[in-house]
Amino acid sequence: MRDNDNDKSQWQPATVTIHGGRRRDEYGALVAPLYQTATFAFTNTEQGSRRFAGEEFGYIYSRLGNPTITELEQRVAALEGYPAAAATATGMGAVSAALLAFVQQGDHILVSDTIYGCSFALFSHLFSRFGIAVDFVDMSDAKHLATMFRANTKLVFLETPANPHLKVVDIAMVSELAQQFAAKVVVDNTFMTPLLQQPRKQGADIVIHSATKYLNGHGDVVAGIICASAEDIELIKLTTLKDMGATMSPHDAWLILRGLKTLDVRMQRHCINARLVAEFLRDHDAVKTIYYPGFTDHPAQTLMGSQMHGAGAVIAFELAGDIDTARRMLDHLQLITIAVSLGDAETLIQHPASMTHSPFTPEARAKAGISDNLIRLSVGLEAIDDIINDLAQALAHCGSEAAANVNSTKEVLSHG
Ligand SMILES: Cc1ncc(COP(=O)(O)O)c(C=O)c1O
Repeated sequence: MRDNDNDKSQWQPATVTIHGGRRRDEYGALVAPLYQTATFAFTNTEQGSRRFAGEEFGYIYSRLGNPTITELEQRVAALEGYPAAAATATGMGAVSAALLAFVQQGDHILVSDTIYGCSFALFSHLFSRFGIAVDFVDMSDAKHLATMFRANTKLVFLETPANPHLKVVDIAMVSELAQQFAAKVVVDNTFMTPLLQQPRKQGADIVIHSATKYLNGHGDVVAGIICASAEDIELIKLTTLKDMGATMSPHDAWLILRGLKTLDVRMQRHCINARLVAEFLRDHDAVKTIYYPGFTDHPAQTLMGSQMHGAGAVIAFELAGDIDTARRMLDHLQLITIAVSLGDAETLIQHPASMTHSPFTPEARAKAGISDNLIRLSVGLEAIDDIINDLAQALAHCGSEAAANVNSTKEVLSHG
């Protein structure tokens, strides 16, 4: 297929994951070449000055731009439905670069009360040192949220479904409120991927990802990406990325381009496996509460089909018993790996209170509904019987007190 053979804007997402942003190099390489170079030669001083002055397009230095990175940026921007993107060294690089570009001393940011632990740390510790006020809010409560905006609110940041217990936020509702205050809405779409949720359609101004997770999908890269308007991306690239430097390496971009090609089939299998695991856990005596957006009584159902096009593959649950019960279960797993991160081919499990969400204060964790017993499971791509058999044998070690303590009316997905 040549570049102009058909209208790329009509491509389905599965096609964009493979062909989006494709450039043909002079040899016709099928796969995007890896431009593993720090810098780019100028033919003469005149050309060098023109490029620095922005009078001529061309690469200068890989912190400012690189053809392999450009291809990734264009592909993910197309998937998210934005005109532009900026690739970053990590997901946290994306969160910090996207937000710092738009605030200054005296500004105010509203942040969802349930977010990834390091994002919480960034908002609660670093921003306050620079005179930027942050309020953490339960964004599932529209009335309360409306009262939290101030004249100086510049940004609203949220994750949905949120890490770790999949609380959902109505992005359109938040965007409508934010618009009234001329505040930008930034959505962390890591858990859903653009195949299951495109926050731009609900009015989000900026979408960020930890590309470490599903976008790459193979657990061998730490990376991030920001998608937004061309104007916002230019500002981010010229300020917080160029000068603070959390840009992506070309090799990581190349690996993510490879990973992206299978995003559609991976997400389908992730979602199927996750549903079967969620059903198994819901029916198990040792499991007290389960959080999975795919169940009909989860608040996410009201957004299913409009905002969300699938439940994703992260599940959280609480066992009957105490923290030792949870630890005992995790320590008996044989196939499933105890590790932070998610979205890999491997099924990963972790304990948020002592791991990913340990940067929260105990009070902030309690307010966000992250209990000490909560376990987060990223369901992988292994054969479903092997995942479930491993969970079953580990749950058998939870002891009789777990089953005995289970409330007969088991709570399913109670975060609204
Ligand atoms: C929802 C979410 N956002 C952002 C991040 C940060 O990404 P990274 O680890 O790539 O910096 C994570 C990491 O787990 C995450 O889960």
